[in-house]
Amino acid sequence: MSNIQFPEDFLWGGAIAANQSEGAHLAGGKGLTTVDMIPYGENRMPIKLGQVDKVTLSEDEFYPSHNAIDFYHRYKEDIALLAEMGFKVFRISIAWSRIFPKGDELEPNQAGLDFYRDVFEECKKYDIEPLVTLCHFDVPMHLVNEYGSWRNRKMIEFFSRYARTCFENYKGLVKYWLTFNEINILLASPFSGAGLLFQEGENHDQVKYQAAHHELVASALVTKIAHEVDQQNQVGCMLAGGNFYPYSCKPEDVLMAMEKDRENLFFIDVQSRGYYPSYAQKVFDNKGVVLETQEEDFEILKNTVDFISFSYYASRCASADMNAGNTSAANVVKSIKNPHLPASDWGWVIDPIGLRITMNTLYDRYQKPLFLVENGLGARDTLDDNGEVNDDYRIDYLRQHIVAMHEAMEDGVPLMGYTPWGCIDLVAASTGEMSKRYGFIYVDRDNLGNGTLNRIPKKSFHWYKKVIASNGSDLA
Ligand code: BG6
Repeated sequence: MSNIQFPEDFLWGGAIAANQSEGAHLAGGKGLTTVDMIPYGENRMPIKLGQVDKVTLSEDEFYPSHNAIDFYHRYKEDIALLAEMGFKVFRISIAWSRIFPKGDELEPNQAGLDFYRDVFEECKKYDIEPLVTLCHFDVPMHLVNEYGSWRNRKMIEFFSRYARTCFENYKGLVKYWLTFNEINILLASPFSGAGLLFQEGENHDQVKYQAAHHELVASALVTKIAHEVDQQNQVGCMLAGGNFYPYSCKPEDVLMAMEKDRENLFFIDVQSRGYYPSYAQKVFDNKGVVLETQEEDFEILKNTVDFISFSYYASRCASADMNAGNTSAANVVKSIKNPHLPASDWGWVIDPIGLRITMNTLYDRYQKPLFLVENGLGARDTLDDNGEVNDDYRIDYLRQHIVAMHEAMEDGVPLMGYTPWGCIDLVAASTGEMSKRYGFIYVDRDNLGNGTLNRIPKKSFHWYKKVIASNGSDLA
């Protein structure tokens, strides 16, 4: 036992997302979404990054999201396992295209609404609080094909209709909401992040920042709607977090680190403060971006979030010349490789102190409670001769990060809860692999979809159960 003490109401849990877990990609009337079009293998990255002008399904490709880990049919078994670990909160996302299969309908799809109601009721059975992301890397494909996705202002209307439908239908069942998962990732990964494809010769920055503006207005508008529908609702933004360190103390490196941080924090600056930061105009000018806005947008933006949620896997590093070789791209955000830190098998650096630094930065900047909604180690787990997974490396990673997050809390940062990523093994967003596993629960499935889908608790399952039962004081 350590002397670490978390607040009594601290929300321990875990996180998954619809597109990486549910499968059943056309069941119950669901429409195709962006992620359903992203195959496993060499064609994955060009599509994710929006480097093609059209996406279609091909019989020669394997699409991991179509079956994923079949959470759609197995959610009762899965939630029971999470309850066994003592979960107090479970972060999931709603697939927009289950509720509005095409995205621009006026009436929702009842089968989709029923599915999530059942999931939320199952959570309530065990006193697990759902934390729900409205858009986790999945835009209905019809909206991409017909409207060009978030480059189009009409998306604000479609998204707010969808969000209102969710708030009204799940009133009393869900009170914690996130609008867009890792909203800043649309800059690095425009198709998977925001459904954006480009025409030849287009200024990509223009399209991306215009889409960002629409998402920011939509996020603020649905925050307002959430509060109107139920005063109990609390809405958060969601940042792919991790500070940039300067590669050296050269002022040029420090300046670059500040600018790279701003690229990401720009989104949260707007969502948390309610207006565009003063540095934005120069960024737009340099990139040749001219935003189309309407006067009402700036009134809407004043509806700020209640809390700041973020993911943290790794810190980042910047030098004056970001193309100076030696780069790594944890979570698709380009970074210089930090020589002082170890890395995972996928090159994501492991830096618990970076979590403490990130938390302090976010709280200094926004003065709103934080929620760490993703963190974890992607690793190749194997079953031993006894059919068990001894994932001590994961326990070690999580332990160090829990200590660091507690240290940040002692620094004075309020943290609402902790939902490590992929609490049940699921499909990796970047590579589409099943073999990049994060979970406390092993799922028998390989990169090409073979396997029984059986669930097997890992060693970390029993460890995390103790962590939760002791409210974070037993990390041994
Ligand atoms: C975050 C996403 O970017 O990182 C998740 O919100 C994703 O969807 C997670 O799965 C880990 O990344 P990956 O590529 O290892 O799955």
